[in-house]
Amino acid sequence: AANLFETGLLAGLEVVITAGPTREAIDPVRYISNHSSGKMGYAIAAAARDAGARVTLISGPVIIPAPERVNCVRTESARDMLDASLALLGRCDIFIAAAAVADYRPMTAAHQKIKKSADSMELTLVKNPDVVATVAAHELRPFTVGFAAETQDVDVYARDKLVRKNLDMIVANDVSLSEIGFNSDQNAVTVFWAENQQSFAQMSKQALARELVGLIAHRYQQTQT
Ligand code: CTP
Ligand code: CA
Repeated sequence: AANLFETGLLAGLEVVITAGPTREAIDPVRYISNHSSGKMGYAIAAAARDAGARVTLISGPVIIPAPERVNCVRTESARDMLDASLALLGRCDIFIAAAAVADYRPMTAAHQKIKKSADSMELTLVKNPDVVATVAAHELRPFTVGFAAETQDVDVYARDKLVRKNLDMIVANDVSLSEIGFNSDQNAVTVFWAENQQSFAQMSKQALARELVGLIAHRYQQTQT
């Protein structure tokens, strides 16, 4: 796989990657989010860049720095991430959705800080748009790759998402395994596409990103002929 990078496997291609969590405002000082570090998506961005692609990262709020020579669009909410994604579809060959998008947001974000009053309070949440499914259903549909974070029946749920969201490939990881996943520097995944699948044993997110970019590029080239 190493020499694939030297030969510019993705030369001339535009790759867009979503990464990190989203933040869904409750009021001006509070939000709903998750523990996504952005490390996997950022590692894929660096690997795609090394393979010769022009890369845009659409990132939720993360601590890690943007890779060099990668365009970075900073977003906050799921709806921001969707808007930024759709705006890039005119020049996107491969879309990789590594972000941990919040599934729900507060129905309304209060304009002023909510004051403490009763002993309990309720927040009404509404479903967010699905960024990767919207991209895959668009008339400018790029080659579309999703991720699936599962805690059980990984293959069943991942294949279901592959079909339901009309993805070309899906990268599934078992987030019930404590030593890998969200905040870890390591990951182990299984990639599903068409009738096939390939598993990658635990390794660094950097090494895994190179494997994934190699596999995605190979599949992408097959669909172009
Ligand atoms: N995704 C997205 N927009 C959302 C939710 C998810 O683009 N609003 C994308 C993620 O970036 C990932 C894939 O969809 O590539 C699967 O995310 P996941 O959370 O595993 O699946 P969901 O469809 O949200 O289903 P659930 O959380 O119920 O398992
Ligand atoms: Ca989800």
